[in-house]
This record gives sequence, structure tokens and C-alpha cells, in this order.
Amino acid sequence: MKNSIGKLNSLYPLPTVLVGTIINGKPNYITMAHVGILKINIVCMGMGKAHYSGQGIIENRTFSINIPSTKQTVVTDYCGLVSGKNTNKAELFNTFYGVTETAPMIEEFAVNMECKLLDHLDYGSHNVFIGEIVNTFCDDSVLTDGRLDLKKIDPILFDMNSRRYWQLGDSYANAWSIGKTQPEY
Ligand SMILES: Cc1cc2nc3c(=O)[nH]c(=O)nc-3n(C[C@H](O)[C@H](O)[C@H](O)COP(=O)(O)O)c2cc1C
Repeated sequence: MKNSIGKLNSLYPLPTVLVGTIINGKPNYITMAHVGILKINIVCMGMGKAHYSGQGIIENRTFSINIPSTKQTVVTDYCGLVSGKNTNKAELFNTFYGVTETAPMIEEFAVNMECKLLDHLDYGSHNVFIGEIVNTFCDDSVLTDGRLDLKKIDPILFDMNSRRYWQLGDSYANAWSIGKTQPEY
């Protein structure tokens, strides 16, 4: 039997990231989980207008996405509890820059993407920012045969419904491949 459970968004889990911006000349990092993929090089994210970070994205038209591992959960959660309005979150990390020069990135996080803002939609309480990935950086520690290895990245998966962080399990099948066998349920 099916249960109707209202309008619950059941797309979780989503990876938890820190989005970097420059505001009043200083880097700031905000924890974000509502980050999605529109097409392979285009990302979107829904950011509450009350947060400090939006202003930096609108002014500079750039931002970064930094991917922590589960070992970095405490600092990741912390950056989602305090605001750059009254806390200097940049001092928690070493910051580096790429080609855009205005998208601060976190050296201690193994994967970093710098993005250029393409579009900005007004969704009442939230801004939706759409950005193009212009450059991706990663540490040697998360590569296997020159490719990003999810197991090594060990991303923090966020579920709004349980308000819990989760961890990735194992890979179990090849995409665009396993379906070529006779489907069985
Ligand atoms: C796990 C987690 C995920 C979050 N995801 C989002 C999100 O997708 N969008 C958003 O607007 N705020 C999100 N937040 C809340 C912001 O990170 C938080 O309000 C932060 O303090 C704002 O920082 P700022 O004022 O320095 O920009 C999230 C917080 C946590 C802990």
C-alpha cells in the first residue's frame, strides 16, 4: 500500500559543500546542500537571501564550490551555523584563487570548482544562482588513474528529512551498461 506523505522532497541525499565568495574584500564560506546540476558544466543553487554570501556572488559574478570529506564534518557544519556577518570563517582555512581571482577556494578540501555566475533568479526568500564551472582543482589524494575517485573523496551526504549526515557506500554496477542485460525484478 502507498502512503501519501505530503509534499516532502525526497531527492536527498545531496553532497554538502562550502561555497566561497568575496564580500567586502574578504573571503567567506557558506555551507550548502541545495546545489544541483543543470547540465554537466552548469550548476544551480538555492541560497536564502538572509545569508551574507549572496551579496558577494551578485557583486563579483563568481563563486567557488569546495567539497569536504566526512573527516571535515565539524568545520562544514560550523560554517552552516554561523554567518560571515559576524564571524570570520575565512580564518578556518587556507584560501587560494584560480583564473577568476574572485572565487576563494579552500586548500584543505580535496576538490574545488570555480564558477562564473550566468544567471540569477529571484525565488522570494531565496536567490537561485546558476553558474558555469570554469576550472576544477583536486588533490592527488582523491585521484585513481587520473580520475576523481568518490571513495577517496568520501563526500558528506546531507538529508534534510532526518537532519543527518550520511556516508557513501560502495559502487556496484556500471552505468549505461548493466541495463543491457535482461531486466529482472
Ligand atoms: C548541512 C547544511 C546545509 C545547508 N544548505 C543550505 C542551502 O542549500 N541553502 C541555504 O541558503 N542555506 C543552507 N544552509 C544554511 C547556511 O549555511 C547558514 O545559514 C550559514 O550560516 C550562512 O552563512 P553566511 O551568512 O556566512 O552566508 C545549510 C546549512 C547546513 C548546516
